[in-house]
Amino acid sequence: MDVLNSKRKSNSTGRILGAALLLTVLLIVFRLSPDFISPKVVSRQEPGVTHVLVTGGAGYIGSHAALQLLKDSYRVTIVDNLSRGNMGAVKILQKLFPEPGRLQFIYADLGDAKMVNKIFAENAFDAVMHFAAVAYVGESTLEPLRYYHNITSNTLVVLEAMAAHNVKTLIYSSTCATYGEPTKMPITEETPQMPINPYGKAKKMSEDIIIDFSKTTNMAVMILRYFNVIGSDPDGRLGEAPRPELREHGRISGACFDAARGIIPGLKVPLFTLSFFFFPFVFSWLSYYKTADGTCVRDYIDVTDLVSAHVLALAYAKPGKVGIYNVGTGKGRSVKEFVEACKRATGVDIKVEYLSRRPGDYAEVYSDPSKIRHELNWTARHINLQESLQIAWKWQKTRLNGYSPPMAIG
Ligand SMILES: NC(=O)c1ccc[n+]([C@@H]2O[C@H](COP(=O)([O-])OP(=O)(O)OC[C@H]3O[C@@H](n4cnc5c(N)ncnc54)[C@H](O)[C@@H]3O)[C@@H](O)[C@H]2O)c1
Ligand SMILES: *[C@@H]1O[C@H](CO)[C@@H](O)[C@H](O)[C@H]1NC(C)=O
Ligand SMILES: *[C@@H]1O[C@H](CO)[C@@H](O)[C@H](O)[C@H]1NC(C)=O
Ligand SMILES: *[C@@H]1O[C@H](CO)[C@@H](O)[C@H](O)[C@H]1NC(C)=O
Ligand SMILES: *[C@@H]1O[C@H](CO)[C@@H](O)[C@H](O)[C@H]1NC(C)=O
Repeated sequence: MDVLNSKRKSNSTGRILGAALLLTVLLIVFRLSPDFISPKVVSRQEPGVTHVLVTGGAGYIGSHAALQLLKDSYRVTIVDNLSRGNMGAVKILQKLFPEPGRLQFIYADLGDAKMVNKIFAENAFDAVMHFAAVAYVGESTLEPLRYYHNITSNTLVVLEAMAAHNVKTLIYSSTCATYGEPTKMPITEETPQMPINPYGKAKKMSEDIIIDFSKTTNMAVMILRYFNVIGSDPDGRLGEAPRPELREHGRISGACFDAARGIIPGLKVPLFTLSFFFFPFVFSWLSYYKTADGTCVRDYIDVTDLVSAHVLALAYAKPGKVGIYNVGTGKGRSVKEFVEACKRATGVDIKVEYLSRRPGDYAEVYSDPSKIRHELNWTARHINLQESLQIAWKWQKTRLNGYSPPMAIG
């Protein structure tokens, strides 16, 4: 009797102790991590709340889009594997929107279909904004498989997960690089797509996959073909901070800022004929075929405008419909003009060296943005290059290392 009793006692004491221990651990976890409760919040639909999955939300454009969505009261989940993005950007967003159920960050690779499926199973997404990609034309000609893998194949993974979990709205980040080098400017959405580098081809393939699939479902799809994106958050919270090793493939604004900070000696601007140095007359004659001053012409779209186009696209997306829109200003500007604006914005007399064109470069690219104006009532507002660059420079000049702690430089 006694033996049995004491045994029972010790057993139940053990249980109580065990339960208490478990409870303490749970409480600590619960208190330490506000995320611990958010999976419940985000795993079901809530009336009046639109939950948007932002892939690549730690990146340049994705982080700006996430900020706007959060400001507009959307619920946001960012999925990013930080291969190119910045945890610093996510942390800033988390600080701005700390309430549970507003912003969730999930560290994951979109190439991992199992993980992506798990994310879709655990979250009730209403829409997906798919930004995650690798996005450097020059790099794509050197490493084509990286591009087909991380753009085309990963888009397929996202689309399959959307289909499996019945997520009905997709806003896709495409690019003017899908058009290649059309002879007729400006580029409309009907301009034939003939991409000339793996980046453009990988994006075109993704578009094709999305469009074909959408014909078999009632999915609402918006494909936005951005032109060259510049600028940053006017309130100075976010910016563009690519990995240092990507600088050589970099975009022109990044290169301008690096030159202004003295990180690189100057700018290398591709020229569409080298004969300029030897035969100025031949140059001016040849350049008539290409661009006005021999440097490439581009359509620079401010990220603030681009993000507002995404929010409108989300609002206008209709089941069973695919909307395809150019997102640009409609104005072509030469790299020379751009550099002059950058010099004025930074106050630094940036050195410029002219080189022969890189493989995969296009001479002249600018949009006809009238379709998006008519159908989504969207138009670019930040069309002063110098102003956009000034805002970006304000963020850049105090941050030598992107999102690492600010540091003063001379
Ligand atoms: N920047 C431009 O001028 C421009 C122009 C046209 C189109 N786009 C498109 O816009 C989108 C965003 O571009 P960005 O300039 O912000 O680039 P970015 O490199 O700053 O951001 C891309 C983000 O995707 C993430 N990512 C990449 N592969 C991933 C993977 N396998 N799993 C999870 N996350 C992954 C990166 O970590 C990064 O945070 C891209 O689709 C790009 O092709 C950009
Ligand atoms: C504790 O109780 C369980 C039944 O709940 C029994 O299976 C186990 O043998 C007991 N352990 C001890 C140490 O008495
Ligand atoms: C991100 O994903 C890619 C695959 O797309 C993978 O090769 C890479 O190692 C990942 N990077 C990180 C930091 O997880
Ligand atoms: C992209 O895919 C390649 C495989 O082709 C992989 O090695 C690479 O790490 C992937 N991710 C990124 C961000 O490039
Ligand atoms: C179009 O946008 C402008 C400015 O954002 C707004 O004032 C106007 O009401 C919009 N028009 C329609 C038809 O939605």
